[in-house]
Amino acid sequence: MCGIVGIVGARPVAERLVDALKRLEYRGYDSAGVATIHDGQLDRRRAEGKLFNLETKLAGDPLPGLIGIAHTRWATHGAPTENNAHPHFTDGVAVVHNGIIENFSEIKDTLIADGASFSTQTDTEVVAQLLARLRRDGLDGQQAMQAMLRSVTGAYALAVLFADLPGTIFAARSGPPLAVGYGVHEMFLGSDAIALAPFTNEITYLNDGDWAVLTADGVEILDHDGNRVTRPRQVSIAAAYMVDKGNHRHFMEKEIYEQPEVISHALGHYVDFTENRVSAAASAIDFARIPSLAISACGTAYLAGLIGKYWFERYARLPVEIDVASEFRYRDIPLSPDAAALFISQSGETADTLASLRYCKDLGLTIGAVVNARESTIARSSDAVFPILAGPEIGVASTKAFTCQLAVLAALAVGAGRARGTISIEEERVLVRHLAEMPRIMASVLNAIQPKMESLARELSKCRDVLYLGRGTSFPLAMEGALKLKEISYIHAEGYAAGELKHGPIALIDENMPVIVIAPHDRFFEKTISNMQEVAARGGRIIFITDERGAAASKLETMSTIVLPNVDELIAPMIFSLPIQLLAYHTAVFMGTDVDQPRNLAKSVTVE
Ligand code: F6R
Repeated sequence: MCGIVGIVGARPVAERLVDALKRLEYRGYDSAGVATIHDGQLDRRRAEGKLFNLETKLAGDPLPGLIGIAHTRWATHGAPTENNAHPHFTDGVAVVHNGIIENFSEIKDTLIADGASFSTQTDTEVVAQLLARLRRDGLDGQQAMQAMLRSVTGAYALAVLFADLPGTIFAARSGPPLAVGYGVHEMFLGSDAIALAPFTNEITYLNDGDWAVLTADGVEILDHDGNRVTRPRQVSIAAAYMVDKGNHRHFMEKEIYEQPEVISHALGHYVDFTENRVSAAASAIDFARIPSLAISACGTAYLAGLIGKYWFERYARLPVEIDVASEFRYRDIPLSPDAAALFISQSGETADTLASLRYCKDLGLTIGAVVNARESTIARSSDAVFPILAGPEIGVASTKAFTCQLAVLAALAVGAGRARGTISIEEERVLVRHLAEMPRIMASVLNAIQPKMESLARELSKCRDVLYLGRGTSFPLAMEGALKLKEISYIHAEGYAAGELKHGPIALIDENMPVIVIAPHDRFFEKTISNMQEVAARGGRIIFITDERGAAASKLETMSTIVLPNVDELIAPMIFSLPIQLLAYHTAVFMGTDVDQPRNLAKSVTVE
């Protein structure tokens, strides 16, 4: 989603602001802009499309100034044109904004009745116009900010410049995150610590409802009522990570191949490999005492949660209520305050997931967060944080975060099983040994299947629709395969429970629609094979992803069979994720799409 950066200091800022925006590119955007103050005047450059276009403009028409704000925009209100790109200017005020001003049309009507005229279709322009109006009424910068914040509702991170206050950036947060960074006679503002990493690793996250006044020498943070508050200053870990593609063509490819390494970090946190036991980190929630578990998340993180549900129910006999966060929060689910709730989120900032978390918190449930961004709002709002330790995920399509989420959920489910006495110590040891094998198996699978997935992807790139089928934990994985393919290749794909085939989707089967069947040789294998027969009998072309036992047991003719090693049911979802990720990746590469930043998508979805 939109990215915000600001610098107030002693050196020219425009180029550095654009460099920082590059680190926010992964969030997804469709236009960008930068504004500075020089010679007492606000000035800006904006461009549609990629940052390269903005850089080209700046090269031809540089923007001096020692203070500035910059923005990458993911359109919500108004098309992604240069005119709608931020910063928005009105009468000595410049504003960049991430989020949605929900009462913008109300405010706009009042301002129009008062003589204002609007030049963009955005909700953000009302903030600039309102501030300009308040300044004209005689309020100083701080007074105008406070009055504006009292008038607007919705989700926002804001950065504001006033031409007559050339040493100050004003910032505000209600929803989307905003961090203040500390430099030497220089202060920074950014949507996340990754954007600020080249400048500083000392940061403070604003709390919801906070606003801030930044000058070159420091920051004053105020709460919603205008009281000065202190927020913790922390050393961010984001700077420690290299955020580049290495030798890979795309971040997504790099992140797929990083999985063996990051999964072993994740497991190392939750598992004691010398004893082959789940470690104390997995028991931050008292699983023995809770009557049930609620899980909520969005997109790929939700599908990880769905696989987790199978595990918690199987190994810990723990009833799990799960839904996508955008439904969960409005469903009025009868949840016991004695229960716990897990929220899964790579970014830790997803608006719907955060709203579901707050809903459960208000009901008194114990809140656990399975997050990648440990400094995120979801992490900071939880009683227990379970980091997935995947490192920054830059590709919009989630890969390593998904498998790390799975690894953490698997360890938690096994730990919960022990705590509830539904598995014995010996069973725990066996399961942990399987988890321990995972990084090695993943590395060898990635090596072995790459050429085959590439040639299969060439075929897939010619298709219009693809169906994915699976049973048990392979059902959510089928949905994840379909999600991955459609989001980066734009090929229509659906994931179905294999048993549901005959209840509708079978009508679609013909020789033009490949059916990808995910079927390790598990408890459901025979049943899935019967469903494959139904596809074959109707001339459907099958891509069969199975293991050695499954390949030996099936006599069906397929378009292609991908054979993975035999693994335990617990770790199969992580291992079987690899072919579906590679297939989606190579198909997108053949289609020539923007793999890391697919159209219309954002990495961190901070609006409902
Ligand atoms: C798909 C994908 C999205 C995210 C979803 C939730 O590849 O990445 O579906 O999983 O937007 O995001 P987080 O995990 O940041 O809450």
